[in-house]
Amino acid sequence: MKRLRQDINTVVSVALLVAAAAAILTGIIADLWHLTGFVYHTYAGYVMAVLAVAHVALNWIRLVRYIRFRLLRSTSQRAPARAGLTTRASVPASGSPAGRPATGVLHALRTRRGFLGVLIGALAGVAIGRSTVRARPNVPFGTDMGVAYHQWSKPGMSDLFGAVASWGAQPPLYKTYPDAPRIILPPPDDRPGLILEEAIRKRRSVRDYSGDPLTLAELSRLLFYTGGINAERFGVKLRAAPSAGALYPIETYLAVHRVTDLRSGVYHYGVADHSLALLREGDMRGEAVRHGLMQDFLGACNLVVYFTVILQRLRWRYQERSYRYALLEAGHLAQNLYLAATSLGMGVCAVGAFLDDQVNAMLGVDGEHEAAVYMLAVGKTRDRV
Ligand SMILES: Cc1cc2nc3c(=O)[nH]c(=O)nc-3n(C[C@H](O)[C@H](O)[C@H](O)COP(=O)(O)O)c2cc1C
Repeated sequence: MKRLRQDINTVVSVALLVAAAAAILTGIIADLWHLTGFVYHTYAGYVMAVLAVAHVALNWIRLVRYIRFRLLRSTSQRAPARAGLTTRASVPASGSPAGRPATGVLHALRTRRGFLGVLIGALAGVAIGRSTVRARPNVPFGTDMGVAYHQWSKPGMSDLFGAVASWGAQPPLYKTYPDAPRIILPPPDDRPGLILEEAIRKRRSVRDYSGDPLTLAELSRLLFYTGGINAERFGVKLRAAPSAGALYPIETYLAVHRVTDLRSGVYHYGVADHSLALLREGDMRGEAVRHGLMQDFLGACNLVVYFTVILQRLRWRYQERSYRYALLEAGHLAQNLYLAATSLGMGVCAVGAFLDDQVNAMLGVDGEHEAAVYMLAVGKTRDRV
């Protein structure tokens, strides 16, 4: 029986070593190739956990004996080893009740080197903990998850290391639909609109539209001034709206209701080549209104603009702060859209209240890796420039 137990113990120990090696190897592979959900690494981890539990169970008695030996080793037990070297060693530790052994930890604390070691360790622990580990978010009654997120996403020392800590791979900067019919937009023309100051002064949220169609040239201008590529610096293509680290997490989609030379349907704006990809053809007015909680101007406008966020574009560098940046960037784009539309005799109305899941489904995004964050109605106004 004892022999069988020993054999099982040996098999489990060897298997544990193999599983640990597999976990290390798969971990390295996952890190090198930025595989955030590498299943073999997960499996190796699970197998290792099961084997570790079995190993502990099989060696429980030895383990307990060892821990007792390490922690409760009395000074009197050590005395024989040191006897003859010093007279103090053979004396029972001061402070210990007569006959009761002092623990190994207490003994260590009483030596000068031990005390210094413990002190330095404790101070280092406090320093590392306070500077790198974030405090648990505090959500007092009467606040909400936004407050918790805001607290949680404050930068700590760990953020200094930024991209060193792996938060996954950087996804491509441009989303493309190679199989979708593509419409290359005309280059944005230079026809002057309102001057900036006037556009800012006139900007309002407009919910009443003339019903006139929008031309492709006007749409091209609108998209270009909202988020088009307008410069290149050190090989990086820069756009009309600012972006944290020039990582551009926002994608733009349109539900086109009334634009000349453009079939009604859902489009994706390809910023790299200033084009549109037709994702779905059809009258989207009913859906736009329903998704926007029955706000009927979403069906009366010429088109609805949707901004989505691909969070991983920011996350690999900015971690917890990514969501903050994403929403700020959507705001930058939206304001550009408002001002560009006002300048060209169009009106915009932002809509924050919408059914996320339905909008995501309409755009063909999963709502997790990429999710809609903003929708804006755009239409020709009665008020001409
Ligand atoms: C984040 C956000 C969400 C909004 N959501 C809606 C909305 O769901 N419906 C709507 O009619 N207006 C919406 N608006 C527009 C505001 O009602 C409008 O900006 C506000 O009344 C001020 O008017 P102004 O934009 O003409 O200056 C939203 C604006 C913002 C910035």
